[in-house]
Amino acid sequence: MPASRNIFVPSGARVPPHWRKEVRRILITEREIAQRLREMSRQIERDFTRREMVVVSLLNGTVMFLADLIRNLSLPLRLDFIGVSSYGAGTESGDLVFTKELRLDVRGRDVLLVDDILDTGKTLYRVLGKLRALKPRRIKTCVLLNKGARRVENVEVDYIGFEIPDYFVVGYGLDFAERYRNLPFVGVLHEEIYKEACKRINPPPSRKKKRKKR
Ligand code: PRP
Repeated sequence: MPASRNIFVPSGARVPPHWRKEVRRILITEREIAQRLREMSRQIERDFTRREMVVVSLLNGTVMFLADLIRNLSLPLRLDFIGVSSYGAGTESGDLVFTKELRLDVRGRDVLLVDDILDTGKTLYRVLGKLRALKPRRIKTCVLLNKGARRVENVEVDYIGFEIPDYFVVGYGLDFAERYRNLPFVGVLHEEIYKEACKRINPPPSRKKKRKKR
């Protein structure tokens, strides 16, 4: 069962001056993330006792979450990555492209699948299908953020850090156009930052009138 089903209420922490032009607000602070990761780790440790597990982490967004999560886990584990990206324009998810395949053999193994955010669910749905075909003993899934409002695919997750509202979030590994992954907190951008960039990626249709055929 997921540990948390309540939408996270932000503490109202102030955005550091350096980021104020781009980041509207902090949704989840470094401290809140660290605290929650300790709780999730204890839960994972209870579920994965004695057997060595394989942690499979999805690139690139899990970079910070994964590093902090596994250093909290006092368990024997091996680590591997799957590269997967939804090449949608701007803030929408598009077609999935696999950029790196798993190298470790997970047949008969206990797998912990880690992702940073569960949004439409398309990524985890596809990855879970691929992983199940490799016949692991069991797969448990773990995400830092769950944006339930946008779900398209029905994906069950075992460990959830925070339930969040339908905001476009960045930081702590999550990007917008590959930027902001290095923010130590999860934040919300000023709307104009991504609206402008989306317009550049997806220019509106030309307003020129088509010449009528004679
Ligand atoms: C993001 C995120 C998740 C996925 C979730 O990845 O890291 O893997 O989208 O979205 P979904 O539930 O709608 O499928 P993205 O494709 O942006 O690549 P990234 O991890 O490199 O940022």
